Amino acid sequence: MNKETLTWVGKWTFILAAAGSAVGLGNIWGFPYKAGTNGGGAFVLIYLGCILIIGLPIMISEIMLGKRYRGSPVSTMKDAATESASSSNWQAIGWGGLIAGVVILSFYSVLAGICLNYIFISLGLEGEIDSIAKFQQVTSSPLQLLLWHTIFILITAWIIAAGVISGIERMVKLLMPMLFILMIIMVVNAFINGNFSQAFSFLFSPDFSAVTANTYLSAMGQAFFSLSLGMGAIMCYGAYMSPDQEIYESSAIVAGLDTLIAMLAGLAIFPIIFAYGVEPNSGPGLVFISLLSIFADLPFGNIIGGLFFLLLSIAALSSSISLLEPSVAFFAEKNILSRPIASSMLAGIAWFIGLGSLLSFNVWSEYTFIGSRNFLDSMDLLANQFLLPLGGLFVAIFAGWKLNPSIAKAELGGSEFVFRLWQFFIRFISPVLVFGIFIFQFI
Ligand code: TRP
Repeated sequence: MNKETLTWVGKWTFILAAAGSAVGLGNIWGFPYKAGTNGGGAFVLIYLGCILIIGLPIMISEIMLGKRYRGSPVSTMKDAATESASSSNWQAIGWGGLIAGVVILSFYSVLAGICLNYIFISLGLEGEIDSIAKFQQVTSSPLQLLLWHTIFILITAWIIAAGVISGIERMVKLLMPMLFILMIIMVVNAFINGNFSQAFSFLFSPDFSAVTANTYLSAMGQAFFSLSLGMGAIMCYGAYMSPDQEIYESSAIVAGLDTLIAMLAGLAIFPIIFAYGVEPNSGPGLVFISLLSIFADLPFGNIIGGLFFLLLSIAALSSSISLLEPSVAFFAEKNILSRPIASSMLAGIAWFIGLGSLLSFNVWSEYTFIGSRNFLDSMDLLANQFLLPLGGLFVAIFAGWKLNPSIAKAELGGSEFVFRLWQFFIRFISPVLVFGIFIFQFI
């Protein structure tokens, strides 16, 4: 396939695909539980700040580089460095991205598999259940986790094997409207069955007394992850963007949709958490344990619960394909492997690494890898605390300082003022903040 001519059909396809990448487990599972454990409003405010002043400028840079050089992150960075007479070592950003994608996919698929499994668990709910015991039962069985992890990664690999247009484009056009409708149903449910006003003030009235330095680190990590930044996923999708599409506007819509869905997820979950007198700070078990016990009690809770976990699974699928695409694009553009073979092989590697994460719920729960962390938490740390912030930092430094400004100006178009604004943020604000927060985690 000729990579130069491969282009999404219409302006909205890029937006849907990039929003599909951004909106995922991070928004609907991660954001609510982190907001819950970090005290609500203040975390939300810091998160919004990170999206705006760190995330958006980097997203614009990734899309711009992809759109101009039209390749996998490795060749995009290489061509970009060549055209600006910089060292070809900048392609390391691309390599880091391919690795981060496969590493994230490995545990993302295990978690998404649990969501798939929960669709059926919810549909089968009858009366009161012990949701803690249920979660333990699900996670203590390596075979059950393996089944759903395998199913999820097979679907991901199958979509990527089918190609950018008949795979990714077709799926996001189907999945994203479904996701939006399901989200609205969940918020309406929370409005009817929950304590909406308490949830609203929890999420939107900041209490800075609960804020620690860790809150900033967690909010920035969350913003990066949620926008799919730092590993070339958005760069890779940008490579299929039509050359005449506006970058600022598209980036703002994608970041806006991502933020909107995270907020709606909070408004779908916290009203019923509060109405049932459950504490909001239960951590990662918030949806699998706290919510499940409420679904068991709610009128038509089995259907609402089933739809909720379907929503989560759909969001996860439109994200997981963007984790696999960059590395498959790399092998396909070099004609080293065909798309179906590259897709099977790389998904196979992610599947295999995922076994470690799957076992860390049970057989390996006592084994520690990095520090006192089990395998899953170590992979999460490696990706979210190292690879993504570093990837984002170097993209910012490259786009701000190394790329010839006239190239950036030509690609970005728009007014001089907006260009200067982007340039100011990408040179001075985003990299300094990312670096500061990154270093801070070690002291
Ligand atoms: N953004 C997705 C989420 O919120 C996850 C994701 C998809 C991702 N592609 C990515 C994260 C690339 C980092 C980099 O769940």
